[in-house]
Amino acid sequence: MATLAELASLRTDLDEHSIDHLLRLTASWSLLSDLSFSDMLLMAKVDEPSNRGAENFVVLGQMRPNNRSTLLNDDLVGTTQRADAWPLVRLAFESGTMNVGEVKIDKVDEVVPVWCVPVRFGTRIVAVMVRLQGPLRGPASLYEQAYLSIFERLCSMVANATFPYREEDVAGPGMPRVGDGIILIDGLGEVEFATPNATNALHRLGIYASAEGHTLREMGLRVRVVERSLEFAIPAMEEIDRGQDVAIMFHCVPLIDHNIATGVIVLVRDVSDLRQLNRVVLNKEAAVREVHHRVKNNLQTISSLLRLQARRSDEVETRNALQEAERRIRSIAVVHEVLSREPGEEVVFDEIVRSLVLLVEDTVLALHPVEIIVNGELGTLSTDLATPLAVALAELLTNAVEHAFVDFGDNDNEQVGVVTLNLFQEGGSAVAEIRDNGRGLGEDFSLEVPTSLGLSIVRDLVRTQLHGTIEMKSVPNAEGGGTFVRVVVPTTARL
Ligand SMILES: Nc1ncnc2c1ncn2[C@@H]1O[C@H](COP(=O)(O)OP(=O)(O)OP(=O)(O)O)[C@@H](O)[C@H]1O
Ligand SMILES: [Mg+2]
Repeated sequence: MATLAELASLRTDLDEHSIDHLLRLTASWSLLSDLSFSDMLLMAKVDEPSNRGAENFVVLGQMRPNNRSTLLNDDLVGTTQRADAWPLVRLAFESGTMNVGEVKIDKVDEVVPVWCVPVRFGTRIVAVMVRLQGPLRGPASLYEQAYLSIFERLCSMVANATFPYREEDVAGPGMPRVGDGIILIDGLGEVEFATPNATNALHRLGIYASAEGHTLREMGLRVRVVERSLEFAIPAMEEIDRGQDVAIMFHCVPLIDHNIATGVIVLVRDVSDLRQLNRVVLNKEAAVREVHHRVKNNLQTISSLLRLQARRSDEVETRNALQEAERRIRSIAVVHEVLSREPGEEVVFDEIVRSLVLLVEDTVLALHPVEIIVNGELGTLSTDLATPLAVALAELLTNAVEHAFVDFGDNDNEQVGVVTLNLFQEGGSAVAEIRDNGRGLGEDFSLEVPTSLGLSIVRDLVRTQLHGTIEMKSVPNAEGGGTFVRVVVPTTARL
């Protein structure tokens, strides 16, 4: 379905600023629809070559009330309406004033009371806002009367180009709605009336005095935005808290007449539950982040201990073993480091890859300079997949740097050691390919024979923990030589 902006620019001659004005109106007109308990339509004049001569309207927007059943089951947005079926809309365009009457609508049995409100922008009537009033359920209650009188004042503002406001949308998602509670403030700042929901909200703030006829300030409640809204005739919102547990949102919609605010509609919403939920979620996130941070610190402490111990041992073999263990622990710490910055079920694996490459580069002292090139990326991965995969990749990269280029140290060898890591997603799996241009695997090499620790770890992680596959082979010299490793890990199935 086309958006208002698309419809308007395609089918009318409205300019960008007028369209923005209409967008602002429709962003906040659920308020109008609820205050009047009515369906609303927004119509503009069609301007198309095929239509020259005949006058038609296009429906740019439609709004249903939240507090009544709708009259219009059909979606009329984008439909063309004949002008002679809507004489009052035509009149509103021509006269620039509001016209009240009746209209006959397709599929609706009775004639429907209709208000046609010209939408002025600058000096021009850019559209007509149509209110289609549903059947009344008995005489209007006091609140209904009050709502309707507010609605009327807002309609005059629409016709005078003072509503919608330039500043902001008044009733977007998450904003208070009419059902949440209304306090109507008059031009002197005194409460004209408050709905039961609004009174409840005041009670929650500890205000029990009867509101009518008093300013909020007299009742012991200071809501600066109400004062500001009245003084400067601008919409504004503010949250008032009472202790940790109560939070009430005040959303001020000034009623403007001849550039002066003659009152303020204050939409009041109890957001205590929302705030509490936010706090819990924020606390939980912070806690998870903190845990990762501590795990990372602890792992770093362990790896420093191992490093110290390695330095103290005289035996080369022991020293190497300790250094290897230190490196393995650091590659796990890398994952927790990233998680401590953005905790969650998922982690951006590419950040981890960057850190791993740096880690391998500076732990393995190759006799020959080696370049590690990373191509592609894996995007975000679930955290229970990221840690084992990171450790496996660290092992494989380390092996390539450590073992592939042992002959390259000879002075007469001009070759440059290159390790490429290709990362991509394929058919629901994360694929990592590590290729080096070194000496390749020995004749008797077999991945299945658990001789050394490094590859045993990789095998166990990839097959048992990640339910993936690993393949390792020498590349024939004709194809450049070296070793090729391919790890495939399913990302869709939960581990
Ligand atoms: N990219 C490679 N190029 C050449 N040989 C390799 C490569 N990767 C592994 N190898 C061979 O496979 C052997 C087993 O590797 P593995 O990682 O299991 O043990 P390691 O690296 O020797 O010791 P560690 O347990 O410290 O990792 C290596 O010793 C090496 O000979
Ligand atoms: Mg190894």
